[in-house]
Amino acid sequence: MRRAKPARRSATRLLALCGGMALGLLSPAAHGADVEYGRYLSTECTTCHGVSKAESTIPDIHGLGESHIAEVIKAYRTKALPNPVMQNVAARLGDEEIAALAAYFATAKRPK
Ligand code: HEC
Repeated sequence: MRRAKPARRSATRLLALCGGMALGLLSPAAHGADVEYGRYLSTECTTCHGVSKAESTIPDIHGLGESHIAEVIKAYRTKALPNPVMQNVAARLGDEEIAALAAYFATAKRPK
């Protein structure tokens, strides 16, 4: 859709989605947000948020609260928060993707 992705990744994503739906049918109580999907999506975030250098103004988002992350990204999406970079990133994310990213970053450790 937005840009070419390596075929293997797309297949993984499709599998994750299908698996998620199948699981959802089998066990309605299964958690809604898919951490693995979030991990997959996170590669576009960690180019900026990954390595926190001392002089960087980009906040470290690893380990933040899940609902905080989701709320903030939605606020960027509606432009309630002013940062144009994050508005741009958030504009391309759907609710399901935001939930998955929030679930992932809430549990993720910052790469060393
Ligand atoms: C091009 C660099 C860049 C990319 C890519 C990027 N961000 Fe950001 N992000 C920033 C900057 C800069 C800020 C700080 C904005 C501000 O000060 O308002 C920020 C802020 C945030 C915050 C707010 C943190 C807080 O505690 O207030 C969250 C959450 C966040 N980004 C999540 C993400 C996610 C999830 C992705 C991937 C979908 C992503 N970002 C991709 C640069 C980026």
